[in-house]
Amino acid sequence: MTSETAQLTIDGVVYELPVVESSTGEKAVDIRSLRNQTGCITLDSGYMNTGSCISNITYLDGERGILRYRGYDIADLAKNCIFIEVAYLLLTGELPTYDELEVFKRDMRRYALIHEDMIHFFDHFPPNSSPMSILSTMVGTLHDFYPEMDLDEDPYGGITTTTARLLSKIRTIAAFSYKKNVGHPLVYPRVDLNYCSNFLNMMFDRPIMPYNVEPLMVSALNKILILHADHEQNCSTSAVRLVGSSGAGLYPSISAGINALWGPLHGGANVAVLRLLETIRADGGTIDKYIARAKNPDDPFRFSGFGHRVYKTYDPRATIVKEICHDIMSSLEIQDPLLDLAMEIEEKISKDEYFISRNLYPNVDFYSGIIYRAMGIPTNMFTVMFALGRLPGWIAHWQEMNNNKESRRIGRPRQVYQGVAHRPYVALERRQ
Ligand code: ACO
Repeated sequence: MTSETAQLTIDGVVYELPVVESSTGEKAVDIRSLRNQTGCITLDSGYMNTGSCISNITYLDGERGILRYRGYDIADLAKNCIFIEVAYLLLTGELPTYDELEVFKRDMRRYALIHEDMIHFFDHFPPNSSPMSILSTMVGTLHDFYPEMDLDEDPYGGITTTTARLLSKIRTIAAFSYKKNVGHPLVYPRVDLNYCSNFLNMMFDRPIMPYNVEPLMVSALNKILILHADHEQNCSTSAVRLVGSSGAGLYPSISAGINALWGPLHGGANVAVLRLLETIRADGGTIDKYIARAKNPDDPFRFSGFGHRVYKTYDPRATIVKEICHDIMSSLEIQDPLLDLAMEIEEKISKDEYFISRNLYPNVDFYSGIIYRAMGIPTNMFTVMFALGRLPGWIAHWQEMNNNKESRRIGRPRQVYQGVAHRPYVALERRQ
């Protein structure tokens, strides 16, 4: 709390509201007492100006293109860490020591299997089910298969067995959903492989075509998951916090986050980008036609992969994703016409007044799909990959919310009602 106050005048009466300051100097008007003091509420559709909580996890400055987890720049983490090291950081607040990381790695291996009865569930989803619906369902059912998990009270370094198990098992669920989708036998997790290698092996190993884990792919996957690991109060994280605020356990809360991520304006954008690139290519690569559509106010079409609610400059994650994309393509000598098309689109859009004036830059999803394609991951799994990456952030926010008396309050926005104020009941026989 600062000594500053904000003054608000309603009907000639001046109210003083406290001003709170973030550790990086941004100010916020604290309206927690507003309704008690004034009888008024605030209206903020889309929560464009609403801070829903005080958080210590991730710092984002959309004007300057800064993203930091627990104070560390995203570029440093992506360059130097493996994914579960960053997961540990998000969950505990500190990077692990060598020994702590070894324990965490051991637990990722130890908890990788899922209950055998859960495997029958995969058989009963209709063919071509969305891997996102399978993922959210299976994560929800963990609550029933591991009921004791929500109750354990034995955290090491702030990480409970519950969270370690969820982080580990989600990979297995994701890979199994893919295997079922393509009709291949399931590949169980291996005790000798680390987090990302194990996932790639479960995805791509086949009885007659053994998979050789490619270090470049492992490194790229580690980086891309790190870039997605948290992004403060976005739509899915807010969903996790909101559902969790009702007292729902970790699994139902994370399941809600997965569903919120699914939409094309959020995590589903990586699928939408690939589909758009394929459409434009099939249409003869006519970029201008699609740019004109994006600019037409009467056409709901948008360029997926461009724009962001908070970034008003280049998304720092997009810069790194683009580099990873080029590294993979050149190291593996992969020619992908969709990458050339994506670069051409970015080039055109970066010079177009419509996009410049609205601060519409590529976001993290613009190039990520091209990397996933190079890894052999099918388009319908892209948003699942995002969920794997975002999981530590969701869990960290769920924990933070539960450990804080103030933010543990049930999330319950108000509304400005503009329907009919009141009218007398009309009996059925008298209604026209
Ligand atoms: N293509 C064309 N025009 C766009 C785009 C786009 N991708 N994004 C925004 N605009 C335009 C809007 O039409 C609007 O124009 P107007 O002022 O003339 O009406 C203006 O830019 C502002 O857009 P809003 O929708 O008000 O911005 P908002 O902050 O609500 O939306 C969002 C952000 C949802 C990300 C939006 O930019 C979008 O739809 N982008 C495409 C989907 C996408 O890539 N989503 C992934 C986001 S990153 C993530 O979740 C991981």
